[in-house]
Amino acid sequence: MPPQTNPLPLAAVLQHRRDRLAEIYPGPVVLESGRAVSRNFPANTYPFRANSHFLYFAGLPLANAAIHLAGGRLTLFMDDTSPEAALWHGPSPSRDAIAAEIGADAAYPYQDLEAKRAEAATLPRQAAANPEPSQSLIEALVTLRLHHDDYALDQIRQAAAVSVAAHKAGMAATQGATTEAQVRAAMEQVIIGQGMACAYNSIVTVHGEVLHNEQYHHGLAPGDLLLADVGAEAASGWASDITRTWPVSGQFTSAQRDIYDLVLAAHDACIAVARPGVEYRDLHLLACRTLAAGLVDLGVLKGDPDILVERDVHALFFPHGVGHLLGLDVHDMEDLGDVAGYATGRSRSDRFGLKFLRLDRPLAVNMVVTIEPGFYQVPGILGPARQSGQYDDAISWSRLEEFQGVRGIRIENDVEITPTGCTVLTDALPTHADAIEALVSGR
Ligand code: GLY
Ligand code: MN
Ligand code: MN
Repeated sequence: MPPQTNPLPLAAVLQHRRDRLAEIYPGPVVLESGRAVSRNFPANTYPFRANSHFLYFAGLPLANAAIHLAGGRLTLFMDDTSPEAALWHGPSPSRDAIAAEIGADAAYPYQDLEAKRAEAATLPRQAAANPEPSQSLIEALVTLRLHHDDYALDQIRQAAAVSVAAHKAGMAATQGATTEAQVRAAMEQVIIGQGMACAYNSIVTVHGEVLHNEQYHHGLAPGDLLLADVGAEAASGWASDITRTWPVSGQFTSAQRDIYDLVLAAHDACIAVARPGVEYRDLHLLACRTLAAGLVDLGVLKGDPDILVERDVHALFFPHGVGHLLGLDVHDMEDLGDVAGYATGRSRSDRFGLKFLRLDRPLAVNMVVTIEPGFYQVPGILGPARQSGQYDDAISWSRLEEFQGVRGIRIENDVEITPTGCTVLTDALPTHADAIEALVSGR
């Protein structure tokens, strides 16, 4: 895929971000990148990922660094690579060169940060659990990071393009693969080969009903559906997040196709109405109603779809929210609890059908969200529900048995909110069942 050019040089983008921060939170603020963590000896480290709030203002994935922000000025604190480290890891740019690239106003050794710490606000390690000391800083960061600038959108688009290619590679590899692990390898190979990393642990599974399944050992049988939730993140940290579900055989059974088309209808309904001012919670409820109505049409559910949704019957099959914020993290800013996801004065519902909703605020221009409805048959949910007899008036258990080959289907795209509606950033990857079948079978 052709590299796209960023709208502005990095230093100008970062200056604009910290000027905006200064308008709403003059500082001073200290943000740390975090440190690489060793496994069994110092040079053998776990993969390092810089903190996203740091990345937002520092722009580069630096390790063992910190920035001090005050009134629009940026001071960088990091050490030059020691000769010993350079011996093992090769040369790296000097502190002064990095400072010039990101437009820092000054740069000092890391230990000089100590003198600045006392008077500056910072984020606690567990900000979600203990937001109190830095509540106003957290709110300022959320205000900025909720709406992406052109540079960020460009980075997300680049990550999305690589994710699209990874999914196509996964589909193309499926018929020559015997295990989930082989399809995962085909997908992640594309991401690694483009100099990117996975934005989260890949889910590539024939057991899509395990929502965050991170096992890859199952064999692929012709009647299986394979659910792949795999997303790249750019070197700058900006993420993408795509799920597709495809038949291992290259052809959906009619029962699989019925449910697939229904999940797609829920997805498409949300995309059709996503625009500034629309409540994300209403998109979620639209997906729920679409799924409930479709399941009634298929004879799986019985009754009025609206009432089924009010009773959370749909949630037995769709227990999660329709998506989340996307940015420098998948599930962007969830390290801050629900401050980003929930508008001021709102909080999570106790209702089974709503409590996993991660985003409840009106959509606005330059927000990026995922839309990811699904259908799952989770034994731990449906077993007790059937046992209880509580849903016998609402669920045709015998009809449901005809869909037992459909354990988990999710369709997920990344959506940018625009002034007039939305743009699906991942729409180069088809969603229609016929197109999915063609990609898997190489037609
Ligand atoms: N990839 C995790 C999610 O879709 O929420
Ligand atoms: Mn997602
Ligand atoms: Mn996902």
